[in-house]
Amino acid sequence: MKARDYTPLLAELAELYARRSPRSQAIQNEAVKYLVDGGSHSLRLIKPFPPRIAAAHGAWLTDEDGHRIMDLWQGHMANILGHNPPEITAPVAEAMAGGFGLQTGFTDRLQVDTARILCKQTGSERVRFTTSGALATMYAIMLGRAFTGRELVLKVGGGWHGSQPWALKGIDYHGGVGNGYQAVESNGVPAAVTDQVLVTPFNDPDRLRDLFRANGDQMACFIMEPFIGVGGYMPASTEFVQAARELTQQYGVVLILDEVIAGFRFRAGNMGALYGIQPDLTTFGKIIGGGMPVAAVAGRAEIMELASVSEGGSRAHKAARVKFSGGTYSAHPASMLAAWTMMSYLADHEAEIYPRLGELGELARRTVRDAFAAEGIYVHVTGGGAPLTAGSSMLMLHFPYEPDRPLVSPSDCFDPARCDITLCHSVLDLAVLIEDVFMLHSHAGLSTAHTDADIAFLGEACHRAARRIKPTL
Ligand SMILES: Cc1ncc(COP(=O)(O)O)c(C=O)c1O
Repeated sequence: MKARDYTPLLAELAELYARRSPRSQAIQNEAVKYLVDGGSHSLRLIKPFPPRIAAAHGAWLTDEDGHRIMDLWQGHMANILGHNPPEITAPVAEAMAGGFGLQTGFTDRLQVDTARILCKQTGSERVRFTTSGALATMYAIMLGRAFTGRELVLKVGGGWHGSQPWALKGIDYHGGVGNGYQAVESNGVPAAVTDQVLVTPFNDPDRLRDLFRANGDQMACFIMEPFIGVGGYMPASTEFVQAARELTQQYGVVLILDEVIAGFRFRAGNMGALYGIQPDLTTFGKIIGGGMPVAAVAGRAEIMELASVSEGGSRAHKAARVKFSGGTYSAHPASMLAAWTMMSYLADHEAEIYPRLGELGELARRTVRDAFAAEGIYVHVTGGGAPLTAGSSMLMLHFPYEPDRPLVSPSDCFDPARCDITLCHSVLDLAVLIEDVFMLHSHAGLSTAHTDADIAFLGEACHRAARRIKPTL
């Protein structure tokens, strides 16, 4: 196959983009004087510089240069009702005006209401709130280790659980495939992480069985995403999730489903329920916060109670206590109000919202495929197409060299021998951004604010992008 050299195309796209975005460029020039790389989340700092957003409503953004951009990144996948939906902003604004919203440092009724609805919608017995998905997965792993009194943590190769020590092994999508997802990918992490974190391939129940046979009695917990997010937008197979549940039960290992992306995305509750299993713990974030920084660990009371400082419980239980505590802004008042409002809204309107999102998702996946096919380019769009993901508003574009070979795990999608990684992760973002569509590393998520007309706009943008890309292929 002809080697694809994207250097000239990337330079052309970067120049077109820079020419139409002088204000974002000027802000970036100022930003790098104070912020590392010009921002606080590396993923968002796209090259040559990110668009600086001035306003966001529904499906659309306005940047500092005055472009209206159709947004498929939607708050880093947190905004299922679109940007700044009035269903959330109105009650928050009203509460703020009435003296409730900013930090109190106390606890309130709303936290109870928010916990009640989260437990009800997810079959959880207890919940504790925190402020980011990374903290939630870190606390869940600490609970798993304390509950079992064991050290080993099992995760999936290419599974992203936030930037926290136990989650930084086996995450780098491009280089990760080459090293079998066995490297710790940050400095400053305790050396023990190298040996204490084991990595298993996604959607491979046989390898999972082998790993449990070899290490199951020393394993504390297995953390996995039921719908792998950054790792490629693919659902875990039913066989894989069932094997995970059976093996964790057989070996006394805590099963943690990380639903920071999947929670309330496919139904008004946890995705685990769609597989007919109950994990021991589930982590939530993103959508549940209604656009505010809310995350949670929820699950079996017996495990969650290890975070308790009360006098009750057995001596062994007290000895296993986990400092899942602190967090000045944990269960922040306005955040709880936004979270309660969002989860209540999704639960009340579940019957309309998810079928509509699924329909819109299917339309978008088909439209994108057709737009590239019109220029003779095969794009494999993950995110839907299975009964489990019937309500899926997610899509990710992959460019495999062999269309007929299925993509079922990060090691398929991020293998440069199998898929065109540069096209997926660098070229496409810029090629559609100059057409006023934003997606990041080819990840896209729709919201209830998107319309059929927005999908048609996406199709036209993809078609023009495909035309620009074609000569390089
Ligand atoms: C599945 C999953 N878990 C955890 C996290 C970390 O969440 P946060 O970025 O809020 O720390 C993410 C973030 O994208 C995620 O996708």
